[in-house]
Amino acid sequence: MAKQRTSRAQFSSKFGLIAAAAGSAIGLGNIWKFPYITGVYGGAAFLFVYLGFILAIGLPVMLSELIIGRKSRRNAFGAFKKLAPGTPWKYIGSFGVAAAFLILSFYGVVAGWSIKYIFFSLDKTFHSLSPQDISGSFASFIQDPLQPLLFQIIFMLLTGAIVIIGVQKGIERYSKILMPILLVIIIVLDIRAITLPGAGEGLKFLFHPDFSRLSFEGVLSALGHAFFSLSLGMGTLITYGSYVKKDTNLVSTAIQVTAADTLVAILAGIAIFPAVFAFNIQPDKGVGLIFETLPNVFQQMPGGMVFSILFFILLTIAALTSAISILEVVVAYFAEELKMKRNVATVLATALITLLGIICSLSMGIFSDVILFKRNVFDLLDHISANILLPIGGMFIALFIGWKFGKKKVVQEIAEGGSLKGGILNVFMILVKVVAPIAIFIVFLQGLKILDLFTAS
Ligand code: PFF
Repeated sequence: MAKQRTSRAQFSSKFGLIAAAAGSAIGLGNIWKFPYITGVYGGAAFLFVYLGFILAIGLPVMLSELIIGRKSRRNAFGAFKKLAPGTPWKYIGSFGVAAAFLILSFYGVVAGWSIKYIFFSLDKTFHSLSPQDISGSFASFIQDPLQPLLFQIIFMLLTGAIVIIGVQKGIERYSKILMPILLVIIIVLDIRAITLPGAGEGLKFLFHPDFSRLSFEGVLSALGHAFFSLSLGMGTLITYGSYVKKDTNLVSTAIQVTAADTLVAILAGIAIFPAVFAFNIQPDKGVGLIFETLPNVFQQMPGGMVFSILFFILLTIAALTSAISILEVVVAYFAEELKMKRNVATVLATALITLLGIICSLSMGIFSDVILFKRNVFDLLDHISANILLPIGGMFIALFIGWKFGKKKVVQEIAEGGSLKGGILNVFMILVKVVAPIAIFIVFLQGLKILDLFTAS
């Protein structure tokens, strides 16, 4: 992680950058959101479309963000101001701030659930509940007007505190150790899940596509999730790119972070879906899918209680390393553009986001009949940020690199520390100039038409 943001510090090593970028990318998006939306949108067909978007759009946009960051050595707003002075490109940053604000509000709620599940895991009786009772306890917890708020606020305070103290070496050092442990636990869960009786149905659901089940809404969500999961479209990786040394190979960095993020999502899917089918849980359950499924798997494992405690602690930490990178986008904006002191900016951003998060949380319970555009507040914020704001941000980032920054400068910037040779360079340029922007535009228009977002009465 960068040492001091004010003096344009640099990552000490390429591994430092990969750890920070992967720390931002790998989070609730991979372990909570990916399985649940894959379940909602029908399984393998959704997964394949998602993988297509990761390759054709996510990877090139990630490289674009890193190039913009390293070339400008500025935050997401300053970067465009510096590279394209006096033009409206800087407004791309506004989408980033708006997206960060909305994402963190519901992200904090789910991270709070993860903290609560550490406590559930400590309770012996929880480990003997039937699948129905496990689902029941999730439902009554998220509908409770107070408990989820308590855990959400604890999580947001932790996030704000780390951003105030500075993203100290501690976080980087610990996440380098803890994230591989999380990976090991997920692999152990995978082994238990695929050896459950009836697991084959789940693997079929995840890997055997039936494209007739795919809706445009599903395609839009796959696109949105590619951005969400890779932390793209709102300037996070522009900021991290600005701390990268000149001799770091940006191309291989982007490939490695993308591969790690995708691997964790697929491994999470392999842990969840066999269990979903083995325990007769509806795959399209929605936001509670992992919380209602995994406790059943832990029950079937020797030492399940310990695994369960560790899993939810590490999931909370994975959420924290992502939340910090989201909050940083808002804080950098308040501090640098609105000229606030950094501490004041952090307190204000954390407080405002927590307040909006409280409304999200209550929309699961006492505010559940507040429906806007056919969604409760939680789903609406998720939808607007991931499926609308991030793809729009990503589209403009791709257009910027393709048309404004241009091939010559791309070659120069990439040549520092690596290279992108003839054919692949041309593919990259075509992807950012034409393919990514047009694909995003089409998916976007279609998805919105189907969703009737603006015409719903
Ligand atoms: N990528 C994070 C996850 O998958 O949990 C969420 C996220 C972080 C989204 C940072 C956007 C962002 F800029």
